[in-house]
Amino acid sequence: MSEQSADVSRRAFLRAGAGATAVAAGAGTAAAQEEEEGGGGGNVRPEWPSYVDDAEDGSYEDLRGESEVTVDVGPDGSLAFVPTNIWIDPGTTVNFEFVSPGHNVKPNDQPDGGGLDGSEGGEFDTIPEGETYEATLETGGMYTYYCAPHEGQGMKGAVAVGEDVSTVEVDTGGGGGSSRPEVPDAAKSLGIATGFGMAATLGLAYFFIKYGGDYGDYEGA
Ligand code: CU
Repeated sequence: MSEQSADVSRRAFLRAGAGATAVAAGAGTAAAQEEEEGGGGGNVRPEWPSYVDDAEDGSYEDLRGESEVTVDVGPDGSLAFVPTNIWIDPGTTVNFEFVSPGHNVKPNDQPDGGGLDGSEGGEFDTIPEGETYEATLETGGMYTYYCAPHEGQGMKGAVAVGEDVSTVEVDTGGGGGSSRPEVPDAAKSLGIATGFGMAATLGLAYFFIKYGGDYGDYEGA
Protein backbone atom coordinates (compact mmCIF):
# COMPACT_ATOMS: atom_id res chain seq x y z
CA MET A 1 0.00 0.00 0.00
CA SER A 2 1.67 3.18 -1.17
CA GLU A 3 1.35 6.46 0.59
CA GLN A 4 -0.36 7.90 -2.48
CA SER A 5 -3.19 5.37 -2.62
CA ALA A 6 -3.84 5.81 1.11
CA ASP A 7 -4.10 9.53 0.54
CA VAL A 8 -6.53 9.12 -2.37
CA SER A 9 -8.82 6.84 -0.40
CA ARG A 10 -8.78 9.28 2.50
CA ARG A 11 -9.86 12.12 0.19
CA ALA A 12 -12.65 9.99 -1.23
CA PHE A 13 -13.82 9.32 2.31
CA LEU A 14 -13.84 13.03 3.10
CA ARG A 15 -15.79 13.80 -0.07
CA ALA A 16 -18.38 11.18 0.80
CA GLY A 17 -18.65 12.70 4.26
CA ALA A 18 -19.21 16.19 2.86
CA GLY A 19 -21.91 14.87 0.55
CA ALA A 20 -23.68 13.20 3.46
CA THR A 21 -23.61 16.47 5.40
CA ALA A 22 -25.24 18.29 2.49
CA VAL A 23 -27.97 15.64 2.32
CA ALA A 24 -28.61 15.94 6.06
CA ALA A 25 -28.84 19.73 5.81
CA GLY A 26 -31.26 19.40 2.90
CA ALA A 27 -33.50 17.05 4.89
CA GLY A 28 -33.58 19.52 7.76
CA THR A 29 -34.60 22.38 5.47
CA ALA A 30 -37.39 20.32 3.89
CA ALA A 31 -38.71 19.37 7.32
CA ALA A 32 -38.73 23.00 8.42
CA GLN A 33 -40.65 24.08 5.31
CA GLU A 34 -43.19 21.33 5.79
CA GLU A 35 -43.74 22.41 9.38
CA GLU A 36 -44.42 25.98 8.32
CA GLU A 37 -47.01 24.88 5.78
CA GLY A 38 -48.70 22.54 8.25
CA GLY A 39 -48.86 25.12 11.03
CA GLY A 40 -49.74 28.10 8.86
CA GLY A 41 -52.75 29.39 10.78
CA GLY A 42 -54.74 26.19 10.23
CA ASN A 43 -54.30 24.79 13.72
CA VAL A 44 -57.13 26.54 15.48
CA ARG A 45 -60.46 25.36 16.79
CA PRO A 46 -63.49 27.28 18.00
CA GLU A 47 -63.38 28.54 21.56
CA TRP A 48 -66.22 26.60 23.16
CA PRO A 49 -68.42 28.41 25.65
CA SER A 50 -68.14 27.43 29.31
CA TYR A 51 -71.67 26.03 29.05
CA VAL A 52 -70.22 22.87 27.48
CA ASP A 53 -67.26 22.56 29.86
CA ASP A 54 -69.01 19.70 31.65
CA ALA A 55 -70.55 18.14 28.55
CA GLU A 56 -70.53 14.35 28.40
CA ASP A 57 -68.24 12.80 25.79
CA GLY A 58 -66.74 16.17 24.89
CA SER A 59 -65.50 15.10 21.47
CA TYR A 60 -64.84 17.67 18.76
CA GLU A 61 -64.90 17.40 14.99
CA ASP A 62 -64.08 19.95 12.34
CA LEU A 63 -66.82 19.24 9.79
CA ARG A 64 -66.39 22.32 7.63
CA GLY A 65 -66.71 21.52 3.97
CA GLU A 66 -69.69 19.20 4.49
CA SER A 67 -73.21 20.22 3.48
CA GLU A 68 -74.81 17.76 5.87
CA VAL A 69 -73.47 16.36 9.13
CA THR A 70 -74.70 13.96 11.80
CA VAL A 71 -74.75 14.17 15.58
CA ASP A 72 -75.71 10.96 17.36
CA VAL A 73 -78.06 11.48 20.29
CA GLY A 74 -77.44 9.01 23.12
CA PRO A 75 -75.25 6.43 21.32
CA ASP A 76 -74.75 3.15 23.24
CA GLY A 77 -77.10 4.28 25.96
CA SER A 78 -74.89 7.23 26.86
CA LEU A 79 -76.22 10.61 27.94
CA ALA A 80 -74.22 12.39 25.28
CA PHE A 81 -74.28 14.07 21.91
CA VAL A 82 -71.51 12.63 19.69
CA PRO A 83 -69.59 14.48 18.45
CA THR A 84 -70.29 16.95 21.25
CA ASN A 85 -68.75 20.01 19.61
CA ILE A 86 -68.61 20.57 15.87
CA TRP A 87 -67.44 23.29 13.50
CA ILE A 88 -69.45 23.65 10.29
CA ASP A 89 -69.94 26.03 7.38
CA PRO A 90 -73.00 28.32 7.23
CA GLY A 91 -75.92 26.60 5.52
CA THR A 92 -74.97 23.12 6.73
CA THR A 93 -77.76 20.80 7.82
CA VAL A 94 -77.19 19.13 11.18
CA ASN A 95 -79.01 15.81 11.56
CA PHE A 96 -79.55 14.93 15.21
CA GLU A 97 -80.18 11.20 15.04
CA PHE A 98 -81.95 9.77 18.06
CA VAL A 99 -80.17 6.44 18.37
CA SER A 100 -81.67 5.74 21.80
CA PRO A 101 -85.01 6.73 23.36
CA GLY A 102 -85.79 9.35 25.99
CA HIS A 103 -83.94 12.38 24.62
CA ASN A 104 -84.60 15.66 22.88
CA VAL A 105 -82.70 18.67 21.54
CA LYS A 106 -83.39 22.16 22.90
CA PRO A 107 -81.55 25.39 22.14
CA ASN A 108 -79.60 27.00 24.96
CA ASP A 109 -78.01 29.92 23.15
CA GLN A 110 -77.59 30.95 19.51
CA PRO A 111 -77.00 34.02 17.36
CA ASP A 112 -79.93 36.26 16.43
CA GLY A 113 -81.82 34.59 13.61
CA GLY A 114 -80.18 31.23 14.29
CA GLY A 115 -82.19 28.25 13.05
CA LEU A 116 -81.85 25.88 16.00
CA ASP A 117 -85.52 25.72 17.01
CA GLY A 118 -85.24 22.46 18.93
CA SER A 119 -87.00 19.15 18.43
CA GLU A 120 -90.80 18.99 18.37
CA GLY A 121 -92.97 19.34 21.45
CA GLY A 122 -92.55 20.92 24.84
CA GLU A 123 -89.43 21.22 26.92
CA PHE A 124 -89.57 17.68 28.27
CA ASP A 125 -91.18 15.91 25.32
CA THR A 126 -88.77 13.31 24.05
CA ILE A 127 -88.23 11.98 20.54
CA PRO A 128 -88.57 8.26 19.75
CA GLU A 129 -85.49 6.22 18.87
CA GLY A 130 -84.85 6.11 15.13
CA GLU A 131 -86.14 9.61 14.40
CA THR A 132 -84.09 12.58 13.33
CA TYR A 133 -84.32 16.27 14.14
CA GLU A 134 -82.68 18.34 11.47
CA ALA A 135 -81.67 21.95 11.64
CA THR A 136 -80.07 23.99 8.87
CA LEU A 137 -77.87 26.67 10.39
CA GLU A 138 -77.46 29.63 8.04
CA THR A 139 -76.38 32.24 10.56
CA GLY A 140 -72.75 32.29 11.61
CA GLY A 141 -71.86 32.20 15.29
CA MET A 142 -71.89 29.91 18.31
CA TYR A 143 -74.84 27.66 19.11
CA THR A 144 -75.28 25.61 22.27
CA TYR A 145 -78.04 23.09 22.97
CA TYR A 146 -79.01 20.39 25.43
CA CYS A 147 -81.30 17.46 26.07
CA ALA A 148 -83.83 18.72 28.61
CA PRO A 149 -84.25 15.48 30.64
CA HIS A 150 -80.47 15.06 30.95
CA GLU A 151 -79.02 18.57 30.91
CA GLY A 152 -77.96 18.15 34.54
CA GLN A 153 -75.97 15.03 33.59
CA GLY A 154 -74.01 16.91 30.97
CA MET A 155 -76.06 16.01 27.91
CA LYS A 156 -75.19 19.13 25.91
CA GLY A 157 -73.33 20.21 22.84
CA ALA A 158 -72.14 23.12 20.76
CA VAL A 159 -72.04 24.03 17.09
CA ALA A 160 -69.72 26.71 15.74
CA VAL A 161 -70.93 28.03 12.39
CA GLY A 162 -68.68 29.84 9.93
CA GLU A 163 -65.36 31.58 10.29
CA ASP A 164 -66.58 34.49 12.40
CA VAL A 165 -66.24 32.67 15.71
CA SER A 166 -63.55 33.16 18.31
CA THR A 167 -60.88 30.51 18.07
CA VAL A 168 -58.00 29.18 20.10
CA GLU A 169 -54.73 27.64 18.98
CA VAL A 170 -54.77 23.88 19.00
CA ASP A 171 -52.09 22.45 21.27
CA THR A 172 -50.09 20.32 18.84
CA GLY A 173 -48.86 18.13 21.66
CA GLY A 174 -52.25 17.37 23.16
CA GLY A 175 -54.17 16.07 20.18
CA GLY A 176 -57.44 17.25 21.71
CA GLY A 177 -59.56 15.23 19.33
CA SER A 178 -58.23 16.91 16.23
CA SER A 179 -58.13 14.54 13.30
CA ARG A 180 -55.31 16.45 11.62
CA PRO A 181 -52.30 14.12 11.25
CA GLU A 182 -49.14 15.57 12.74
CA VAL A 183 -46.90 15.06 9.75
CA PRO A 184 -44.73 18.13 10.39
CA ASP A 185 -43.52 16.85 13.79
CA ALA A 186 -42.77 13.44 12.34
CA ALA A 187 -40.84 14.99 9.48
CA LYS A 188 -38.93 17.17 11.92
CA SER A 189 -38.01 14.18 14.09
CA LEU A 190 -36.86 12.31 11.02
CA GLY A 191 -34.72 15.28 10.02
CA ILE A 192 -33.15 15.43 13.47
CA ALA A 193 -32.59 11.67 13.56
CA THR A 194 -31.01 11.81 10.12
CA GLY A 195 -28.79 14.66 11.26
CA PHE A 196 -27.63 12.67 14.30
CA GLY A 197 -26.96 9.66 12.11
CA MET A 198 -24.83 11.72 9.74
CA ALA A 199 -22.94 13.35 12.59
CA ALA A 200 -22.19 9.94 14.10
CA THR A 201 -20.96 8.68 10.73
CA LEU A 202 -18.74 11.71 10.25
CA GLY A 203 -17.40 11.31 13.78
CA LEU A 204 -16.49 7.70 13.05
CA ALA A 205 -14.93 8.76 9.76
CA TYR A 206 -12.80 11.27 11.60
CA PHE A 207 -11.49 8.63 13.97
CA PHE A 208 -10.83 6.23 11.14
CA ILE A 209 -8.90 8.87 9.26
CA LYS A 210 -6.94 10.02 12.29
CA TYR A 211 -6.22 6.69 14.00
CA GLY A 212 -7.28 3.99 11.56
CA GLY A 213 -5.35 2.77 8.53
CA ASP A 214 -2.17 2.97 10.58
CA TYR A 215 -0.24 0.44 8.54
CA GLY A 216 3.33 1.16 9.47
CA ASP A 217 4.38 2.99 6.32
CA TYR A 218 1.89 5.64 7.24
CA GLU A 219 3.41 6.54 10.59
CA GLY A 220 4.47 10.07 11.12
CA ALA A 221 2.30 11.37 8.28
CU1 CU B 1 -81.20 12.96 27.00
